[in-house]
Amino acid sequence: MPRRFLVTAGLPYSNGRLHVGHVAGAYLPADIFARFQRARGNEVCFVCGSDDHGVASLMKAREEGVPVEELVGRYNRLQEEDFGGLGIEFDIYGGTHRPEFLETHTRFSQSMFRRVHDNGYFVKRTTKQLYDVEADQFLPDRYVEGTCPKCGNEDAHGDQCDNCGSTYDQIELENPRSTITGTTPELRETTHWHLSLDRFQEPLREWLETKREPHGDQPAWRPTVLNFVLGQIKGGLPERAMTRDLHWGIPVPLEDPDAEGKVMYVWFDAPIGYISFTAELMKRQGNEADYERWWKSEDSEIVHFIGEDNTVFHALVFPAMLMAEGTYQLPSQVVSNSYLNINFGGEEQKISKSRGNAVWVGEYLQDFDPDPLRYYLTAVAPETSRTAFDLADFVQRNNSELLGALGNFVNRVLTFTRRFFDGVVPPVGTRDEADAAQIAAIARAQTAIAENLDAHRYKAALGELMALSREANVYFNEKEPWALRKTDPEAAGTVLNVCVQTVWSLAVLMSPFLPFSAARIRTMLERPEGDWVWDSATEELPAGSPIGEPVLLFRQYELESEDDSAE
Ligand code: 2FM
Ligand code: ZN
Repeated sequence: MPRRFLVTAGLPYSNGRLHVGHVAGAYLPADIFARFQRARGNEVCFVCGSDDHGVASLMKAREEGVPVEELVGRYNRLQEEDFGGLGIEFDIYGGTHRPEFLETHTRFSQSMFRRVHDNGYFVKRTTKQLYDVEADQFLPDRYVEGTCPKCGNEDAHGDQCDNCGSTYDQIELENPRSTITGTTPELRETTHWHLSLDRFQEPLREWLETKREPHGDQPAWRPTVLNFVLGQIKGGLPERAMTRDLHWGIPVPLEDPDAEGKVMYVWFDAPIGYISFTAELMKRQGNEADYERWWKSEDSEIVHFIGEDNTVFHALVFPAMLMAEGTYQLPSQVVSNSYLNINFGGEEQKISKSRGNAVWVGEYLQDFDPDPLRYYLTAVAPETSRTAFDLADFVQRNNSELLGALGNFVNRVLTFTRRFFDGVVPPVGTRDEADAAQIAAIARAQTAIAENLDAHRYKAALGELMALSREANVYFNEKEPWALRKTDPEAAGTVLNVCVQTVWSLAVLMSPFLPFSAARIRTMLERPEGDWVWDSATEELPAGSPIGEPVLLFRQYELESEDDSAE
């Protein structure tokens, strides 16, 4: 029976371009997983889109002096372009305020809000909130900054600290300041609906405890993720306001006069985007109600890919919302990655726009190919701890690993076959022990890569792929087909047959990681286009199959020397 996976990658805020940190943290592993599961014959729906609401986008729009709708629309398109350029292929790319999605997204968000409300999991409270007198408005979330009550970080946001990952109520911030006017806000009363997270402490704990071990066909969750959220539960989950005094967001759908002029907290409607975008896709395919097959049916596995700062919302708040709503499945897996830092000016730094150290996807793609970045970001993936992007390391690994080991093997084999075997796969002949060992290495790599990908170990999976390419090079070198051809042409044919089989299997096995290069090999081997089939990695190409014109898979990159960059 094929499995069914609903795969999501954290919805990026549509107020900036994407950099390598975003890609490594969520989108790339999600894309690799989706491609792999599809190739295995499983049903996959891969959903993403932009997170258009929230104060960060309002602030950016104010900064640029444009209407917020225009800003988020622009970045939604640019981000979609960046993803496309990297071969990150969603089944649907929505946006929580993207015009074609707005009706469905509003309907799903409001229905969720009403159901949580009607099931009695909201508490309506009038509390004091920070108010900017000069700007004449309340200051939700990123409209206020101050000192984190947990770790002392002086630049903590109103809702969340980027330094320690804590979330809290804005009035807990020390030394608050308005990001609109820079003034010190005062406290004023306002009414909001708070989700009773405290009532989900026990159900969440019980549910999360089941993720310590493999469950169903899913591996245990990463211990870093589990320990973090179970620790939060131990410390106690406070009620959290799910509404805001803002004009940008999904309106609160209650008849109550106190709800007037209020919208949902961005973190309430954003994860519902995963559902509403799925529904929109189903609608386009003919039947909106089919979203239930993905979200409400027990045989669907929901897998979220996120960066570490999103962990609380995906492993605690969103599951609590789903529990409160009552008709949804909970996620099977939350694959949370740590941060990718950057080595810049001889120092490891957090990637930050203001520091000017970010490698932007759009700029990268102007000079480089997508696969080397996919390769490097997987090789240094911050799976369990922070890692760093290093440009010199990227160049070096492109040249020595992609070009030197993988690309070189493919190129040598195909060029040799065209030159000395009439451009067709030579007959199998008689395979000796070394030939058989190389064929066996393919199946072994196929299993090892699959096991690692099923377990969300992307770096290890890629390691197995590269090990196969290194073994193949060793085999080719030891067999010396250039010499063998003269003394025993038939045996040389056998070697090249084994090598072509290896090239084909490398294409299949690399297809989740390096889809552009895999497609190029497929063209060179004149195999039919279409979906990749994982099992076909061990299906041998018949003797006599044509080999087309070899094209180079990878290019040599050079670091700009100091002189060049000074120009
Ligand atoms: O951290 C972020 O970029 C958020 N916009 C992620 C939202 S993920 C989901 F819940 F929509
Ligand atoms: Zn902190």
